[in-house]
Amino acid sequence: MKSEGTTLELALVLPTLNERDNLAPLVERIDAALAGIRWEAIFVDDNSADGTADEIRRLALADPRLRVIQRIGRRGLASAAIEGMCATAAPYVAVMDADHQHDPALLPAMLEAVRGGACDIAVASRFIEGGNAQGLSSERREAGSNLANRLARRLTGVDLTDPMSGFFLTGAARVRSLAPALSGIGFKVLLDILAASRPPLRVREFPLQLAERRAGTSKLDRAIAFEFLIGLYERSVGRFIPVRFALFGTVGAVGVVVHFAVVALLFQLLGSGFAVAQTAATLTAMTFNFWLNNFLTYRDRQLRGPLNLLRGWAGFCATCAVGAFANIAAATYLQASGFHWALSVAAGILLGSVWNYALSSKFVWGR
Ligand code: GDD
Ligand code: MN
Repeated sequence: MKSEGTTLELALVLPTLNERDNLAPLVERIDAALAGIRWEAIFVDDNSADGTADEIRRLALADPRLRVIQRIGRRGLASAAIEGMCATAAPYVAVMDADHQHDPALLPAMLEAVRGGACDIAVASRFIEGGNAQGLSSERREAGSNLANRLARRLTGVDLTDPMSGFFLTGAARVRSLAPALSGIGFKVLLDILAASRPPLRVREFPLQLAERRAGTSKLDRAIAFEFLIGLYERSVGRFIPVRFALFGTVGAVGVVVHFAVVALLFQLLGSGFAVAQTAATLTAMTFNFWLNNFLTYRDRQLRGPLNLLRGWAGFCATCAVGAFANIAAATYLQASGFHWALSVAAGILLGSVWNYALSSKFVWGR
C-alpha cells in the first residue's frame, strides 16, 4: 500500500502541434505552480515536424511525471485532449494549451473547487471580471470568438462566459464516461463536454488573463472555424437535413447564381447567341460546383491530383446531366398533370438535387 502522499492527484493534458521551443519553460512553470500537488503531464502530440515529441521524451528522462502520446496520422486538438484525458489514472484532469497562453497558476484553485464539490467543472475564462483576451492576436479573431461564444451558449444551454475556453479541469471518470458521446472534431472540446452532460454540469469560472503565445504560431485556421460551424449545425438542424446535403444544396444555389451571371455577361453584355451563352454557363456552373463541392462538401474526401480531378469532374458532369434529365422529366410530368408551374419547377429542382447528391456522393466522392 502506498501512503497518501504519493497518490496521483491531477493529470495535465497538453495537446501539442509544433510547440518544441515552448516545452522546457512550460514544464518549469507547471512545476512551480503545482508545488504540493501530485501531478503528471500528458503531452498528446500529432507527430509534429519540429520534433516536439522527442523534446518531451528528452525532458521526461529527467522527470518521469512527463509523458507523451505520439499520434501518427491523426490531427485535431479536441480528439487529442479526449485521448489524453482517458490516458491517466489520476482522478482529476485538466486540459491546457502548451504555448504559454494559459497560466498554470490557476490550476490549484481550479482543482480545489472541483475536488471540494463547489462545481463539476472549473473553466478558465477570458471574459469574466479579472480575465481578458488581450492575447488574441487580431480584432477579427476577437469578433469571431464573440460570435462563436454566443452561438455556443445558445445551443448548449449552459450559461458560462467562455464555452470555447481551452483551459478547464474536471473529474477524469466523468470525461471517460462522456468520451463516446464527444465528437472529437475541431477545437471545441469543452463545448462538447458541456453539451453532452445531462444534467448540465455545475460550472465555476476562473479569470484567465490570456497571454501572448510564447513561440510558434496558432493552429486555429479557417478550416477549424468552418468545422466549428458544421458542428453547431449538426447539433441543431442537422437532425432534419444532413449537413452534407445542406452544403451540396447551398453549393448548387451558388451555382445557379454563377449560371445567371455567365448568361448575363455573354448574352446581354457581349451579344453572343443565347445557346452559346447557355452552354458556356452550364459548363462554368458545373465546373464551379464540382470545385466547390470538392473543397467544402467533400473536404474530408477531397480529390487531388490532375488525373483524379479530371475523372471526378467528368463523373460530376455526367451525374448532373442525368439529374437535369430527371429534373426536366419530373417537372414536365407534374405540370402536365395540373400542378402549378412553380410547384412543378421546385419539385423538379428538389428531385434533381437529391439525385445529383446521391449519385455524386457514391460515384464521384465515394470510397
Ligand atoms: N495534438 C494536437 N493536434 N494539438 C494541437 C492541434 C492538433 O491538431 N492544434 C493545436 N494544437 C495545440 C497547440 O499546439 C497548442 O498547444 C494548443 O493546442 C492550442 O492551439 P493554438 O494553435 O495555440 O490555438 P489558439 O491559441 O489559436 O486557440 C486557443 O484559444 C481558443 C479560443 O480562442 C485554444 O485554447 C482553443 O482551445 C480555444 O478554443
Ligand atoms: Mn494558442
